[in-house]
Amino acid sequence: MTDASVVVRSVNVSTAKSVPAGATAVGHPVGLKGAVPRQLGMSRAALAENGFDGKAGQTLAIPSGDGLLVAVGVGATDEVDANSLRKAAAAFARAASKHTHLATTLADAGDVDPAAAASAVTEGVLLASYRYVGLKTGDDVGSKLTDLTIVSGAKRAAAADTGAKAGHAIAAAASFARELANTPPTYLNAVDIADKAVALADEAGLTVEVFNKDDLLAMGCGGMIGVNRGSTEPPRMVKLTYSPKAAGKGKQKHLAMVGKGIMYDSGGISIKGGDAFHQAMKMDMSGAAAVLSAMSALKALECPTKVTAWLMCTDNMPSGSALKLGDVLTMRNGKTVEVLNTDAEGRLVLADGLSLAVEEQPDAIVDIATLTGSVLSALGPDIAGLLGTDQDFVDQVKASSESVDEPVWQLPLERKRYRKMLDSPYADMKNIGGPYAGTITASIFLSEFTGDVPYAHLDIAGPMKIDSDDGIYSKGASGFGTRLLIDLACNF
Ligand code: BES
Ligand code: MN
Ligand code: ZN
Repeated sequence: MTDASVVVRSVNVSTAKSVPAGATAVGHPVGLKGAVPRQLGMSRAALAENGFDGKAGQTLAIPSGDGLLVAVGVGATDEVDANSLRKAAAAFARAASKHTHLATTLADAGDVDPAAAASAVTEGVLLASYRYVGLKTGDDVGSKLTDLTIVSGAKRAAAADTGAKAGHAIAAAASFARELANTPPTYLNAVDIADKAVALADEAGLTVEVFNKDDLLAMGCGGMIGVNRGSTEPPRMVKLTYSPKAAGKGKQKHLAMVGKGIMYDSGGISIKGGDAFHQAMKMDMSGAAAVLSAMSALKALECPTKVTAWLMCTDNMPSGSALKLGDVLTMRNGKTVEVLNTDAEGRLVLADGLSLAVEEQPDAIVDIATLTGSVLSALGPDIAGLLGTDQDFVDQVKASSESVDEPVWQLPLERKRYRKMLDSPYADMKNIGGPYAGTITASIFLSEFTGDVPYAHLDIAGPMKIDSDDGIYSKGASGFGTRLLIDLACNF
């Protein structure tokens, strides 16, 4: 794969008080009412004659000399917020996708905090410009974008600059998550992702520890060892630690994140069919990708929270050495699990990660995983499932979800009613529940490994990928959860 978010990191992002001479395409916001920016050189009536009335998401490209002017609809001006600016910026980037140097005054539309506005606009342009180029041999080189200038009024300039830098870091992180998940499975195995983590740790201000198969055996990580048994490629667990600068250490909070890193999920002995889901199972490491990518941005964003991250990485393959149905595994925290479906492997690797996270007694633990097909049946492809043991923490995750526009919906982690669905005559629990409430029983399983620590679980099986280009998303892996985790860590 191309290296860490090369696509977006190589774009120069700057701020200015007026449109720079070099800009080849310039986007200006137009609301449903009010004045039309004079730079567009068109009246509202003339725009309307061309089918443009300022609705959110609309764009009208107006050739101008050698360049392009773009009217960018932002809807009702008093309803503009960071999320609508991100979407408008994405629409602008798509309308100007043939151009190399974009500039836009969008961040000054409406009355949004200038740093948040500049961040959202930067994110929108950069994320909409992301393409996985990977292994194509033609002359499709992906995005043409080389420069982005956020143009902002003098009073907002300093804050806009801070925001643009933040937006650049955030977009680079989310693009990196997409890049990891889009990469074909043979080009990114557990060893490869661990190598990526090591390679970025220094610059990202992280300490990194990599655990191999022998380490995992010695640590009693039966879930990781069990799932890896069928694979010819070794597992890796990666622990990353971000420690903010000393100031205020007494009150410093500690958040732990655990990511499901199934580099390829064939289902194991309970092998999957040849369906579209199986075809997407190189993306079964999207949780680990989101965690690693989020961690990569914390230093640049001066995140005040201490964060410990665990990436649980292995393939899930069928073979003569694979897990058998009825096998019982002993997890890191000593609990035993009867494996009745090897395709319910994510919870097995997460069990070890959660157990290890608990041992450090953080203030909260969040995990993120492409865990169940059931969540797609319940919430569809756009919305992640959110379940947890502590409503205050779950509410924090919800708040982050809203603020970054990565939608989640809470489902009940109903231990009292449904824990019995996991009862096993042979072990402390089975790794599958009954035919119903699959997302809930999976989360109950996971909560067996989180002790007393406030815990939230994100099931991103739905939004891990996007089926066609749309707004900030391009067909393929979405990087979903990266921005949410960054927001959660920075505001925890
Ligand atoms: N990785 C899959 C879940 C998944 C399905 C992710 C579709 C993305 C899209 C997971 O490991 C899995 O196979 N889950 C099983 C669990 C079942 C056997 C209890 C499922 O959902 O079918
Ligand atoms: Mn599976
Ligand atoms: Zn899986």
